[in-house]
Amino acid sequence: MSATLVSTDAAIDAAAGIDQSAESTGIQSFLVTFIIRRFDPEVDAEPRWVDYDVELYSTDRVLDALHKIKWEVDGSLSFRRSCAHGICGSDAMRINGRNRLACKTLIKDLDISKPIYVEAIKGLPLEKDLIVDMEPFFASYREVQPFLISSSTPEPGKERIQSIANREIFDDTTKCILCAACTSSCPVFWTDGQYFGPAAIVNAHRFIFDSRDDAADVRLNILNDKEGVWRCRTTFNCTEACPRGIEVTKAIAEVKQAVLRGKA
Ligand code: SF4
Ligand code: FES
Repeated sequence: MSATLVSTDAAIDAAAGIDQSAESTGIQSFLVTFIIRRFDPEVDAEPRWVDYDVELYSTDRVLDALHKIKWEVDGSLSFRRSCAHGICGSDAMRINGRNRLACKTLIKDLDISKPIYVEAIKGLPLEKDLIVDMEPFFASYREVQPFLISSSTPEPGKERIQSIANREIFDDTTKCILCAACTSSCPVFWTDGQYFGPAAIVNAHRFIFDSRDDAADVRLNILNDKEGVWRCRTTFNCTEACPRGIEVTKAIAEVKQAVLRGKA
């Protein structure tokens, strides 16, 4: 199946007599082919690839292309997105075989001389088109107790004081947006869905190394499980996939060290 799109914006401008053509604006547009792995559980026995030709500018993002397809060609195309600015973590997907956020992937950074392949992230149950069931991912996240646990109570009106040096120890892992790009790029997770996965370990790291927290031993014990940190084979897929630039594999290595030697 194939479809060609002309932007709705362009159609509105034309009706209003506004010339927004490439010639008048000086901005070049391109016809880009997207091949999207579609799956409707009510109709399809198996996923199928469907191609769409979309008119885009180099400053557009893959998310803009998905919006054009959904709004102008096929409203049944299903995907998650919310913030559209790399904050909510809801639009992780495989773009040309690599896990990325659709809202952070610019067309100019892709080779548009070839079709752009888009599919759902791997390792989680496929629900529809680009949407997977995130519950197994969040179940692992909840299991590591990703919240501050303290045995003391600050004096009324006082904060829990932390030095800049102590804050820096876990600064990197505070940046996680729970997009699942790391966990769903991990070959161990693909073969063993019981593995906690990189994201859960990153979020455990965030609290294990927080000087205000008193439950590091509890979390280290949880991650010393056979489905815990020792499942990691240090393939670095997770670090490469992380749209926040978190050194995921390094964080996992630090948790492994802490399991062996205790929190430093
Ligand atoms: S560590 Fe990075 S890739 Fe993994 S869930 Fe967090 S933000 Fe996403
Ligand atoms: S839509 Fe929120 S991160 Fe992309």
